[in-house]
Amino acid sequence: MKKTKVWQLKGETLAGQLTEAAELLKAGELIAFPTETVYGLGADARNTQAVEQIFAAKGRPSDNPLIVHIANIEQLSELVLPYPELASQLMEQLWPGPLTIVLPVKPDALSPLVTAGLATVGIRMPDHAAALELIAQANCPVAAPSANRSGRPSPTTAAHVLEDLNGAIAGVVDGGATGVGLESTVIELAGDNMIRILRPGGVTPEQLKLAVPEALIDTPPAKSETEEAPRSPGMKYTHYAPAGDMEIVQGDAIETAAYIREGIAGAKRDGLKTGVLVFAEREGDFDADVVLTYGGGKHQLEHAAQRLYAALRQFDAEGVQRIWAEGCEEQGIGLALMNRLAKAAGNQVTRL
Ligand code: TXA
Ligand code: MG
Repeated sequence: MKKTKVWQLKGETLAGQLTEAAELLKAGELIAFPTETVYGLGADARNTQAVEQIFAAKGRPSDNPLIVHIANIEQLSELVLPYPELASQLMEQLWPGPLTIVLPVKPDALSPLVTAGLATVGIRMPDHAAALELIAQANCPVAAPSANRSGRPSPTTAAHVLEDLNGAIAGVVDGGATGVGLESTVIELAGDNMIRILRPGGVTPEQLKLAVPEALIDTPPAKSETEEAPRSPGMKYTHYAPAGDMEIVQGDAIETAAYIREGIAGAKRDGLKTGVLVFAEREGDFDADVVLTYGGGKHQLEHAAQRLYAALRQFDAEGVQRIWAEGCEEQGIGLALMNRLAKAAGNQVTRL
């Protein structure tokens, strides 16, 4: 077992605080770091031994490719083959930011483990000063999945990373809680003019439309299980799931309240520990054993996105066995939020 180092960032001047982490990363060690979405578990994307350790530390299936993070646009030309003009426009408008673009990979530019044998690679430039500084100092493309054990909720604080990976990685850069709270949007380009959303995330379909108004946007259907094949390899796995049995309830306020109350009463009769996750307006409405809120009201979905994974981890920490979570409209960041909620609940979504 390794001793996992923690670098707690202080103040605005980051460069000197990241020297050791960058050197370890460059030397083939695993370093977790904050991004604007969730914490990533970074390794030099060209180094197969380093990338192998990511899969081992996470317990991640090897057919699920990793996102490669860059700090500046100059790094890109070494990694990918020529790509459509539409991709350049998106990069210009939305990078740095929570958008991963799947592009044709240059042969031999990256460890084959990164792409899981695909001819493409997902690339993003994170919008986080510490992430950009770390990548720039390490001076390599950084492969980084979310820094959780596979199947667990993604980490939005350094403490979450340590919960899952303490002793298994060289270090974690602690930059406080992440801003967006859900992972990046993963897209691929179909033809010259079509954006296909493979995984909804921090960049909303509305923001994509604003950035490139002439492009067509193919948004995943609300109930992704109705599709024959998952859109990205990672979407077929159980994810983000708390240990307790979870159900998402969506619809009319009065009906959903009655439905959840009945559920709580039944579970309590069965001697089960109950939990609810609701918008702030509803905090006082339920007598579950553990009542958590999204940290904001129904019209503040950004707060809900930020708080979701911490709440799921808290249910686990308190040993909650039955969980009801209030759903939301699939608009704006609500599309990604409902996607993660549905996955966390194993697609148990009740619409009233
Ligand atoms: O916000 C994020 O994207 C975070 C931070 C750390 O950057 N990273 C992240 O990585 O969420 P991960 O490994 O947990 O999820 C990567 C997703 C998976 O669903 C994977 O299947 C998909 O991106 N993906 C990666 N490369 C791909 C490719 N070439 N084609 C299609 N999907 C790809
Ligand atoms: Mg992940």
